[in-house]
Amino acid sequence: MRKPIIAGNWKMNKTIDETIDFINEVKEKLNDDKVEAVICAPFTVLKDLKEATMGTNIKVGAQNMHYAESGAFTGEVSATMLKEIGMDYVIIGHSERRQYFNETNEACNKKVLKALEVGINPILCCGETLEQREANETKNVCKVQVEEALKDIDANDISKVVIAYEPIWAIGTGKTATSEDANDVISYIREVVAGLYGEKSNEVRIQYGGSVKPQNVAEIMAQSDIDGALVGGASLAANDYIQLVNY
Ligand code: PGA
Repeated sequence: MRKPIIAGNWKMNKTIDETIDFINEVKEKLNDDKVEAVICAPFTVLKDLKEATMGTNIKVGAQNMHYAESGAFTGEVSATMLKEIGMDYVIIGHSERRQYFNETNEACNKKVLKALEVGINPILCCGETLEQREANETKNVCKVQVEEALKDIDANDISKVVIAYEPIWAIGTGKTATSEDANDVISYIREVVAGLYGEKSNEVRIQYGGSVKPQNVAEIMAQSDIDGALVGGASLAANDYIQLVNY
């Protein structure tokens, strides 16, 4: 059985004080034995986030990393640095990073490999633009993104990878894919992973992301192939986050 995983992606939001207040508000209220609750926050709050979640089941993560061990990469943060402060997860290849920071499938692949090498679980994002959806390219786009990002990943590590299917046109727009549509693409992504890893693909959790909120999370999570959600906007308010995890 795959444990459902609800992850908040705070993007470029929250100061340290806001982070600590948020954790104090949610920590006693999450039914997080059946569901894995994760928060992916900006670099500047990660150490405090980790400390604030000590003694809880809440897992913590970053939203990006560099694939090199160290070196002349001004402004970047390495996987080892994230591991040092206790990160469990790192989001890789979010569409905003692909779109605004030119992140390629090849770079995502290097990042996934490096995260696994240091013992951080990657949340690998894929998803199509509206144009690609309208041209019926959704499945092919996801296949290429997933296959290229998983190149050379050892079969023994594949269960540590979480995949997030996030149709770009549904992110932050209030538009969600219908849950049936999302389920259909996600079951296809599982076939793609099965093509690479056979039976082991059953251990990989695949989330849906894109305008998930307390009002639609139960319906999304009721789908046969959806193992979780990656939530942006609605993960910022403590009350909403509690409802999302406790769907
Ligand atoms: P959203 O963002 O929930 O605000 O649509 C999702 C994401 O970007 O991960």
